[in-house]
Amino acid sequence: MIIGVLALAVTAGIFLLLAVALLIAERYLVNYGSCLVRINEGSVEFEQDGGGTLLAALYEHKVFIPSACGGKGSCGYCKVVVLEGGGPLLPTETPYINRSEVKAGVRLACQVKIKQPMELKLPEDLLNVREFKARVSLIRELTHDIKEVNLELIEPEEIKQRPGQYVQILAPGPDGPVFRAYSISSPAYEHNKVQLVVRLVPGGIASTYIHNLKEGDEVTFTGPFGEFRLSEDPSKAVICVGGGAGMAPISNIIHTIYQTWPDRPCWLFFGCRTTKDVFYLDKFKKLAEKHPNFKVIYGLSDPLEEEEQWEGDTGFIHLSVDKRLSVELARQAFLCGPPPMIEAVTEVLKEKGLRNEDIFYDKF
Ligand SMILES: Cc1cc2nc3c(=O)[nH]c(=O)nc-3n(C[C@H](O)[C@H](O)[C@H](O)COP(=O)(O)OP(=O)(O)OC[C@H]3O[C@@H](n4cnc5c(N)ncnc54)[C@H](O)[C@@H]3O)c2cc1C
Ligand code: FES
Repeated sequence: MIIGVLALAVTAGIFLLLAVALLIAERYLVNYGSCLVRINEGSVEFEQDGGGTLLAALYEHKVFIPSACGGKGSCGYCKVVVLEGGGPLLPTETPYINRSEVKAGVRLACQVKIKQPMELKLPEDLLNVREFKARVSLIRELTHDIKEVNLELIEPEEIKQRPGQYVQILAPGPDGPVFRAYSISSPAYEHNKVQLVVRLVPGGIASTYIHNLKEGDEVTFTGPFGEFRLSEDPSKAVICVGGGAGMAPISNIIHTIYQTWPDRPCWLFFGCRTTKDVFYLDKFKKLAEKHPNFKVIYGLSDPLEEEEQWEGDTGFIHLSVDKRLSVELARQAFLCGPPPMIEAVTEVLKEKGLRNEDIFYDKF
């Protein structure tokens, strides 16, 4: 028995040493030379020394793609279509890429290394993403762990975003700068500012950096990114469901809707644990007074005893959606918040007849 365990440990040790030796050899001995990277049949192309990741090379050449986890291989956001030169699919990519994507050549840019000339296909939208410098103009504490951060754009001076999109803030990390995604909460018709709603994740690199920002500080971000597409059909009712910092894209969507279509039906369902987590309720109540087709429902999942006066719903927010949403209208839903909330709400909405393509969500 002991001999068996020893043999296993020795074999594992040998494999580990081989793997390390291969990595060192690749890093210092293998020279891939300069490789041509062509995007969208040459509409963008650049030469890049081989050996680094595709994500880093794209960033170096100012082609910005989503990378919500900052290149750790844990978000699946950095998908690109590699038509040629990507090499075999890696085990680190398989959890994020389904069978039809494999056929189409989809890869994770943070995992693929440049080792030969490459041919890529990217959505045209991404080629319009820019890097922005901005100044913090106003910070407001919304709850015990959520801040609203207003950024005034310096260069470029304007941003064009669709409601529900996000930017990637560059934050200094212990092992170098990292990018993290934050939804834009200011409405899409405001072009010279970007407002964020950021929850502090204890020990988190970017959320701590943002919570420590002071008015007047400069920040860098790239954007806009994201697949949310608000229908232009004003008869299509919109259902927004959020929790915590998931308010950000929802606030953007709602204000954009009422600037453009004052009579459009829209429901806001917002889930909080206790009244300590409630914010923007007064602002939305005022909006609802002006727009009778706007319905605001806040729910507390874990009300404290002293919260008996609470006039809103109690219980998980998907139960409020289930209870109150009976109107049969053509509609779209936008969900933002923790994964269990998104999953529970999606199930309810599907039972109420919404199709997959009408449900947009960001889990965070
Ligand atoms: C499309 C998109 C939009 C987003 N929009 C917003 C937004 O508007 N506002 C906002 O506050 N956040 C938003 N996020 C989440 C944000 O990008 C970061 O993931 C979050 O702020 C944590 O980053 P960090 O660098 O502070 O923590 P990290 O340094 O990445 O993580 C530190 C530790 O916290 C854990 N952790 C990471 N994220 C969370 C989390 N959300 N909850 C609990 N634990 C976590 C990690 O596993 C790790 O152990 C969004 C994410 C996505 C994908
Ligand atoms: S950047 Fe997150 S998986 Fe590639």
